[in-house]
Amino acid sequence: MAKKKFAKDSVTIMTEMVLPNDTNTLNNLMGGRLMHWMDIVAAIAAQKHSNRIVVTASADSISFKQPINLGNVVTLKAQVTRAFNSSMEVFIEVTAEDIPASKKIMTHRAFFTFVAVDQNGRPIEIPEVVAESEEEKELYEGALRRRQLRLVLAKRMKPEDAQELKSIFNLEGPTT
Ligand SMILES: CC(C)(COP(=O)(O)OP(=O)(O)OC[C@H]1O[C@@H](n2cnc3c(N)ncnc32)[C@H](O)[C@@H]1OP(=O)(O)O)[C@@H](O)C(=O)NCCC(=O)NCCS
Repeated sequence: MAKKKFAKDSVTIMTEMVLPNDTNTLNNLMGGRLMHWMDIVAAIAAQKHSNRIVVTASADSISFKQPINLGNVVTLKAQVTRAFNSSMEVFIEVTAEDIPASKKIMTHRAFFTFVAVDQNGRPIEIPEVVAESEEEKELYEGALRRRQLRLVLAKRMKPEDAQELKSIFNLEGPTT
């Protein structure tokens, strides 16, 4: 198995049109449908990186700031930001487009975590990510901090072991 893979090789783009069956009673896209699409596009990106079966381990908080309307075309772009041992973080960006009105807006950004598993569902090691562009490097750098935050919240890491978070919140206290 390759020890390292480029972040760009995991890029996955999915396009959907919002149809009546995807909407709530206000004719806007249902949040659950959007999360379903996000899960699929992110899982494909994670599979591309790991060449393994992957399972969703977590989805970071998603907020719905503005509605996506019936008839809009939704584009979801996913890319693996960083891989750890068996888990990898995937960044997802969602845009909604009203093609007749020539309007396109970025509506959501989210991070999901996937774990690569073997045929028995046991976590298995995956290649490291090589970040090349400035944006990929920025996402790569922030991934360790986000991982520690989600593991602390999931009670899988003790807060005192989360070194990256300590430096952000200056939990070590003033040095002078
Ligand atoms: C995700 C899963 C494979 C982890 O299995 P586990 O026995 O807890 O394995 P481990 O403790 O060795 O953790 C494996 C990796 O998952 C990561 N992980 C586990 N829970 C996590 C969470 N809540 N958020 C982020 N990462 C998590 C660990 O950090 C570890 O990462 P690493 O190998 O890169 O260091 C297991 O919990 C599972 O199968 N969950 C159900 C997945 C599923 O069905 N998803 C669909 C939702 S309906």
